[in-house]
Amino acid sequence: MTAADLDTRIELHDATGFAGMRAAGRLAAECLDMLVPHVVPGVSTLALDQLAYAFILSRGAVPATIFYRGYSHSLCTSVNHVVCHGIPSEKPLREGDILNIDVTVVLDGWHGDTSRMFFVGEVPLKARRLVDVTWECLMKGIAQARPGNRLGAIGHAIQTHAERNRMSVVRDFCGHGLGRRFHMAPNVVHVGKPNEGPELVPGMFFTIEPMINLGRPESKILPDGWTAVTRDRSLSAQFEHSIGITDDGCEIFTTSPAGLDRPPYGG
Ligand code: MF3
Ligand code: CO
Ligand code: CO
Repeated sequence: MTAADLDTRIELHDATGFAGMRAAGRLAAECLDMLVPHVVPGVSTLALDQLAYAFILSRGAVPATIFYRGYSHSLCTSVNHVVCHGIPSEKPLREGDILNIDVTVVLDGWHGDTSRMFFVGEVPLKARRLVDVTWECLMKGIAQARPGNRLGAIGHAIQTHAERNRMSVVRDFCGHGLGRRFHMAPNVVHVGKPNEGPELVPGMFFTIEPMINLGRPESKILPDGWTAVTRDRSLSAQFEHSIGITDDGCEIFTTSPAGLDRPPYGG
């Protein structure tokens, strides 16, 4: 999602919404769990996309991304220096690659949106460090998601942790409200100050999905109109959870039921 196209009113949801998002979020997380053993050297991201498509339909849901603004796949698969919105292709994954797999399902009208990093075989130490810091950024952002805080507290926590580790935060894409629609207010930027942005209140649903680069933060979109890459070709990583603000904190809707929230996944 780019920053420009969201309006500013933030919808608030009740227990029905939380139940719907819990089910949709769990299904999206289960889809990523299902993919874990399939991410190995030689497999194509298109093959992973086909597995995800069949899995989502078999569970009575649909992929939110098919027909979304002309997109035609179930997953985004963003390898190495791809920041986000990588299109599944026949190109095989190679030992040492890192990739993000991002899936959004629509179940009973509710959107579950989540992404994780995956390692293809053994990956270099600096890539593993990037993935660890990116995971920590997401969780530090989530730790700020509670009533009374402003949205800027989330971006501030993420930016502080990334920059302390001499990594950079992508500005060109952000998290977003979601619920019965895929992308809505608020815009969740991953940088900022604690006193910026709307105050968080119970019933808000949004994603937090920091993209962190080993090099500079600038990205550009390839001629396919989707694939965003780092301008300096440095490695990029991302994790995403969908959350709901509760009375005393937040509920993460997209936690892995199998405990496979971050690599390495073993096996
Ligand atoms: N799931 C992505 C997000 O986190 C959006 C993908 S849109 C697509 O917002 F069309 F590129 F698939
Ligand atoms: Co996503
Ligand atoms: Co998202």
